[in-house]
Amino acid sequence: MQAVVIEQYGGPEELHMATLPQPTIAADEVLVAVAATSINPIDWKARQGLLKGMYDWDFPVVLGWDVAGTIVAAGDQVTKFKVGDAVFARPDIYTDGRRGTYAQYAAVKEDKLALKPQELSFAQAAALPLAGLTAYQVIHDRLQVQAGEKVLIQAGAGGVGLNAIQIAKYLGAYVATTASANHADLLKQIGADEVIDYHTTKIQDVLHDYDAVFDTINAIDDGMAILKPTGRLVTIDGQPTEAQKAQGPSVSGWWLQPNGTELAILGDLAVKGHLQVIIDQVFPFTTDGLQAAHRYSEASHSAGKLIIHVNQPANL
Ligand SMILES: NC(=O)c1ccc[n+]([C@@H]2O[C@H](COP(=O)([O-])OP(=O)(O)OC[C@H]3O[C@@H](n4cnc5c(N)ncnc54)[C@H](OP(=O)(O)O)[C@@H]3O)[C@@H](O)[C@H]2O)c1
Repeated sequence: MQAVVIEQYGGPEELHMATLPQPTIAADEVLVAVAATSINPIDWKARQGLLKGMYDWDFPVVLGWDVAGTIVAAGDQVTKFKVGDAVFARPDIYTDGRRGTYAQYAAVKEDKLALKPQELSFAQAAALPLAGLTAYQVIHDRLQVQAGEKVLIQAGAGGVGLNAIQIAKYLGAYVATTASANHADLLKQIGADEVIDYHTTKIQDVLHDYDAVFDTINAIDDGMAILKPTGRLVTIDGQPTEAQKAQGPSVSGWWLQPNGTELAILGDLAVKGHLQVIIDQVFPFTTDGLQAAHRYSEASHSAGKLIIHVNQPANL
């Protein structure tokens, strides 16, 4: 199969098309013919070698951890999905480093899969898993945002932020968010009550007595400064220090746990109109396409997801 790989850690120029064997599947896995994948910051952090401490991969490494496509083979123990099903997932990160989703085929464990709703294109479905699950798990599961609470979501125009704002609004919260001025209209359109231009305004100067903060930019002290003493903060982009943990508000870090059941909930929210899937740009599945997508993501000013169109189903 064709896959975009890296053969050493480094810049975007390390990404290139290669021919690799198709992944073999275990009894509890399916093989997905990939229609679309998406870019997340973890992709270029991994490309730079920043995950070396967590994963001891052999080169060539296939990056990418979002997939939407069609099942072409299923292991003997797979019971809920069958060949021909259109699905989407945030697959596990495999220890061999070969099973990313910048590839024509991806192996996915059954418990990470959800059926792709017919109403969503493959591109929309590929946009949801990693960013959407992270947002859902922090807003719904960890912060347990309640109706009427005041919540700050940092980096509202990011892949995670756009989902988090909409999930918090769905739960009935009052939502403030940070963004560059050119993204304010988009964020208000998806439901944000207040958009703060972080280039000109400090959140501590305008927000007070917040119930919850979703930190996506490693600004834990800033977030803690606007919380009530009983408030809570979850970060996905830093590690709270012991001193921060010892202060009044609760503070903790979170690392996404892939989960097909929660992904199906997100798909349902999208179908029912509670969650718009915002795509910034679609790139081709080529060496140039992946390099351009990494450069764009790394510049950290995308508004929504960057999609890679891998194969050719009719309704991408
Ligand atoms: N722990 C986990 O499990 C986990 C899971 C997912 C993501 N993450 C991490 O969470 C972070 C966000 O991920 P993502 O997918 O949302 O990234 P993304 O889509 O690349 O985020 C891009 C957005 O970040 C905004 N931004 C950049 N600097 C900002 C700042 N100082 N203040 C406010 N907004 C800022 C930009 O807004 P403007 O263009 O409007 O300036 C842009 O819209 C990344 O570091 C990622 O690695 C962690």
